[in-house]
Amino acid sequence: MPSDKSNIPLTLVYKGEYYPIRTYVNEYCSLMTLVSNRLAIPGFGLCCGMGSCGTCMVMMGSKHSSISRPVLACDIQVDDELSNTQINIPETRY
Ligand code: FES
Repeated sequence: MPSDKSNIPLTLVYKGEYYPIRTYVNEYCSLMTLVSNRLAIPGFGLCCGMGSCGTCMVMMGSKHSSISRPVLACDIQVDDELSNTQINIPETRY
């Protein structure tokens, strides 16, 4: 990992398992590619980020709050805004 990049900690949650991740700005072109690369979930991101399939829908929130909102992971850039977020990935694809 390059030392001049921001260090972004976040947690992926899938099937009840917690996956602490550290990444940096633009290591991945979107949250969808990060999730696909780290967890290889079948059927996730079927339209490869075109925003038309909905299979990359995740619930984005904070580790310190029960409030989360649905987002398309392919619309989310990997930057400091992801720092300390918790990304819950539904088992069912939409
Ligand atoms: S990858 Fe299809 S909507 Fe995000």
